[in-house]
Amino acid sequence: MTVMLKRAAYHAQHASVRLPLFAVQQMLRVLSRRWDQPSRAEVKAVQDRYWRLLDRDLSNAELGLYPESLLFDFPMFEYAKTFPRLAVEFGRAIRRMRDADYKDLPDDVDLTRYPHYFRRNFHWQSDGYLSKRSAELYDAGVEFVFLGSADVMRRQIIPPISRFLAAHSGRARILDVATGTGRALFQLAKTHPSQKYYALDLSQYYLEVAQRAANDDLDISFVVENAEEMPFKDESFDVVTSVYLFHELPKNARRRVYREMHRVLRPGGLLVIEDSAQLSESKDISHVLERFPADLHEPFYQDYLRDDLAAGLAEAGFRIDAVEPTFVSKVVVARRE
Ligand SMILES: C[S@@+](CC[C@H](N)C(=O)[O-])C[C@H]1O[C@@H](n2cnc3c(N)ncnc32)[C@H](O)[C@@H]1O
Repeated sequence: MTVMLKRAAYHAQHASVRLPLFAVQQMLRVLSRRWDQPSRAEVKAVQDRYWRLLDRDLSNAELGLYPESLLFDFPMFEYAKTFPRLAVEFGRAIRRMRDADYKDLPDDVDLTRYPHYFRRNFHWQSDGYLSKRSAELYDAGVEFVFLGSADVMRRQIIPPISRFLAAHSGRARILDVATGTGRALFQLAKTHPSQKYYALDLSQYYLEVAQRAANDDLDISFVVENAEEMPFKDESFDVVTSVYLFHELPKNARRRVYREMHRVLRPGGLLVIEDSAQLSESKDISHVLERFPADLHEPFYQDYLRDDLAAGLAEAGFRIDAVEPTFVSKVVVARRE
């Protein structure tokens, strides 16, 4: 395929996901009587960021920082099949939102095993992170919220790792913290299949879905643990990654995880984090960011928004190499010195 054809196919794929999802989102806004709108300038800023993300995605693949196959690896039909179940879930989420019922969790789970901030149904989703049902619907639900750009944002962690590994001899040990169902980790592992991976998450249900989806050729160990106290030796990893964890943690837990990441990373090792944008670098889209927790149960998000990931990491001893906006998220690249 020529470059132009590939670019056209890529944009056609995104339009075919984005446009119907946007129509459904608008319909739901009307049904739930959400009239407040960001300013025109802010809508334009969000749109510009979106187009920059897609451009960056195409350029990264063209530069060989990840394989072009990732650009087309969107399981549209798998996700479409979950839509009837998601529609039922939407009704349940609305009920929980109206009743502020964030403790509606499965009866058969021993909640004492989890920190207080985890014992809730984030996003008003059924069972929070504590069931197979929730884990099976999660990926499609996230793509719905981000209009098909979630995997694109996630894979923006890969370029700094590709550059790092190009200068690394031997097999690297790579830890992904809060792997969830594995959408970020699998894209990284498909790019660098011969490395040794560890996938850690507090939800056994999410990790089970990840484990089932994992390609047998990849060497991934799955570890159900709290990121605040990781069961790994000091300086035992070359690379640590994490995607969309920190906006769901209270400030003190966030700080503890930074320190744990610093402890397990070897000197000279690379840390790459992707998470929601924050006001520190993204005031141009502040209305959109402020609105995010209004519809989804995200109790620590307002505090996260006013915090600064890079500053927290620097406090934990990291040297910050880059902070790069990626649509409504950002990538922070840091080193342990
Ligand atoms: C928003 S999801 C992100 C998952 C995945 N990285 C992705 O890109 O979709 C947050 C994940 O963090 C996990 N999590 C939350 N608190 C945690 C903790 N203290 N230790 C380990 N995992 C945690 C949850 O179980 C969930 O899988």
